[in-house]
Amino acid sequence: MDNYKLLITGGLPLIGETYVSGGKNTSVAVIAASLLCDEPCTIENLPDIEDVHVLVDILTNLGAQVEFDTAARRMYIDPHKVASCVVPYRQSQRMRASYYLLGALLGRFGQAEVGYPGGCAIGNRPVDQHLKAFRALGAEVEEKGAVIYAKGKMTGAGVFFDRITVGGTINAMLAAARAEGTTVLYNVAREPHIVDLANFLNSMGCKVKGAGTGTIRIQGVRYLHGSTYTVIPDQIETGTLMIAAAATRGDVVIRGCIPTHMEALTAKLLEMGVQVSDTDDAIRVRTLRGHRAVNIKTQEYPGFPTDLQQPMSAMLTKASGDSIVIETIFESRFKHLIEMQRMGARVRILDDTAIIEGVPELYGAPITATDLRAGAALVVAGLMAKGVTEIYEPAYIERGYEHMEEKLRALGADIHREAL
Ligand code: EPU
Repeated sequence: MDNYKLLITGGLPLIGETYVSGGKNTSVAVIAASLLCDEPCTIENLPDIEDVHVLVDILTNLGAQVEFDTAARRMYIDPHKVASCVVPYRQSQRMRASYYLLGALLGRFGQAEVGYPGGCAIGNRPVDQHLKAFRALGAEVEEKGAVIYAKGKMTGAGVFFDRITVGGTINAMLAAARAEGTTVLYNVAREPHIVDLANFLNSMGCKVKGAGTGTIRIQGVRYLHGSTYTVIPDQIETGTLMIAAAATRGDVVIRGCIPTHMEALTAKLLEMGVQVSDTDDAIRVRTLRGHRAVNIKTQEYPGFPTDLQQPMSAMLTKASGDSIVIETIFESRFKHLIEMQRMGARVRILDDTAIIEGVPELYGAPITATDLRAGAALVVAGLMAKGVTEIYEPAYIERGYEHMEEKLRALGADIHREAL
């Protein structure tokens, strides 16, 4: 169904067991990194989501042989025949992570021409730190119109990032993987997918150390051999499911996740009065009583993730008391709260701060998703509300959540599509 809305009849607690798919933001980095390799790679546990399919199109257009078995969640990538270093704007703007082709092509061939990336409209998203890293490694970089041109032999260097950036860290790692000499990246992102990318690069024979800390050291290698690699589970999907379980006063066991990646969220849920327990690879979330309001400030990992701020602040609209949410990473990540005012949410937004006055009840209403996580937040809102919520532009959700409706329905949610 191409043009549809989501209909949710809220008020039902989510109950049962579910599972987490492979990580979106790690998958898009690992798939791009496979271009650096001299031999075919097989990537496992990839989510069947729109962003992964867009990347398959881009790699195929570059000349790579790509086979994505969506049922097995496995992708075979043979980068041998990549003959082009050009990703036109009409392709690059379909997703954010298309800019990883800059680092990967530069790392492999010493040149890349990639259109500006697209992705969610959640604020100003400059790439100055990516370009700074490429230049430090020896590239000449020019920005002309909608395209970034980068060319040069990659040579190990020190790069100190002016601010912590996930994308900038990943792009610098890709560009440095086959550089001559050692690259040291300072003030880098520490997200789990940075560690996952480092593990993938190392599995191909690269020498990356320090991923997960503030400094990454990469000893470039000439030849990268093929690898079979399994990406980590999606911590943002895990968190969204945890929030949905808590928001509906449900009782859900989420399997196949990594609980240690969820500590910032788990701590906040416990502070709200939600019961959270975990084993090695599963988390159980239960709500027995009402929720207390809490304050949140988004930060780089291991702080509270900006990607979970949206579903979390949706849940806080029904907590008892006032919550203050400060968004420090992206300036336009409160659009879902404005939509939720139509459902009865009481929210004031002042620049990077949302003040949420908890209300006892939300009411179903027509609302519109403006980006991926806003879409997830509105689904949480719909699940919590009385009556029927209609969500327009739900296709954003397909960019990053694998089979979200099916997973929620299996937990007892009343959610379905209706053609427009
Ligand atoms: N920034 C700069 N200059 C740069 C790069 C970033 O000023 O050169 C700023 C950004 O404007 C932002 C901050 O640094 O204020 C952090 O941005 P970052 O580069 O870390 O974000 P990103 O790489 O564009 C990734 C995820 C986002 C996630 C952020 C933060 C991917 C494909 N995207 O974006 O995921 O919100 O990190 O964790 O990995 C999502 O999944 O919904 C999503 C938006």
